[in-house]
Amino acid sequence: AKPWRGVIAEYADRLPIEDGDPVVTLGEGGTPLVPAPALSSTTGAQVYLKVEGANPTGSFKDRGMTMAMSKVAGTGTEAVVCASTGNTSASAAAYAVRAGLGCAVVLPHGKIAAGKLAQAIVHGATLLAVDGNFDDCLRIVRELADSYPVALVNSVNPYRLQGQKTAAFEVVDALGDAPAIHVLPVGNAGNISAYWMGYREYAADGLASRTPQMWGVQADGAAPLVKGAPVEFPETVATAIRIGNPASWTLATAARDDSGGRIDAVSDAEILEAQALIAREVGVFVEPASAASVAGLLARAQAGEVPEGATVVCTVTGNGLKDTATALGGRDVDPQVIGTDVADAARALGLA
Ligand code: F0G
Repeated sequence: AKPWRGVIAEYADRLPIEDGDPVVTLGEGGTPLVPAPALSSTTGAQVYLKVEGANPTGSFKDRGMTMAMSKVAGTGTEAVVCASTGNTSASAAAYAVRAGLGCAVVLPHGKIAAGKLAQAIVHGATLLAVDGNFDDCLRIVRELADSYPVALVNSVNPYRLQGQKTAAFEVVDALGDAPAIHVLPVGNAGNISAYWMGYREYAADGLASRTPQMWGVQADGAAPLVKGAPVEFPETVATAIRIGNPASWTLATAARDDSGGRIDAVSDAEILEAQALIAREVGVFVEPASAASVAGLLARAQAGEVPEGATVVCTVTGNGLKDTATALGGRDVDPQVIGTDVADAARALGLA
């Protein structure tokens, strides 16, 4: 097999990239589609995880960022800006380095996981913290990009969704057809819209025999699409999806309705339980928001709403290493200290 070249080179004929566009890439995409036997046996379905934490900056955002950044680089604009709950800022900061652009990130104060903040910092972005939530940050950066010479790289930038749709292509390429159901967490609602675009494109071109039902999952305290109205003060342990007024609202509800799918909410406790289950029984460490997809699937399975034997793909959107504090939940991280003799290790392990 040839080495993976990043989503623009791999799917060039399906992306709006022009001849003169520089390709800004870190080799994103080509992520594992991992069978999850533990989830298959609990749900009765054939469950796979699309492990997006394996992307260069540890989340699915890189798929969209390679497109958005390739479109900005070479236009003369010198800096990009984004609002973020953490992953978009990490990705923007890294891809801006590759593009030779400045990068400013506008974040909800005190609500970003430490690993994501570290990423933006080490890549040299300028960080601004707003005393407000993500929705306030997004309003600010939209107005900034309207009035000043900075390019917006949030998913309201249409190139972002174009890049992100490649994840649906990869799922079909790996399975040989579209799954029956695709489950993913929903925050600003760009990703569910992007997957739906990708699945429809493949089906229209005869590369898949069907499109999946799109099942979105929000957190109880940040579930505007479930409630049908914006949430003024969103709150959830899954800070990545702590969003009250998603920008891609209409696209996401269209994806839900046109696919015959659903958007549900799960509690923070269900999210943390699913995160622990994925780690302990599947062997994949995901961040809390990512576990919302699996939590949603498990809840529907419990309600008897997952068809026996159906192929189900859950996108796990971000790497668990981004937010170790939440995953550890106050557990002691000091390992048992032993002497330098092998006998000490054997005794401690109950082998001697
Ligand atoms: N999962 C993770 C890990 C995320 O970081 C996000 C969004 C989502 C799911 C939801 O995706 O917004 O397309 O519905 N994070 C954005 C950010 C908001 O700023 O990093 P969505």
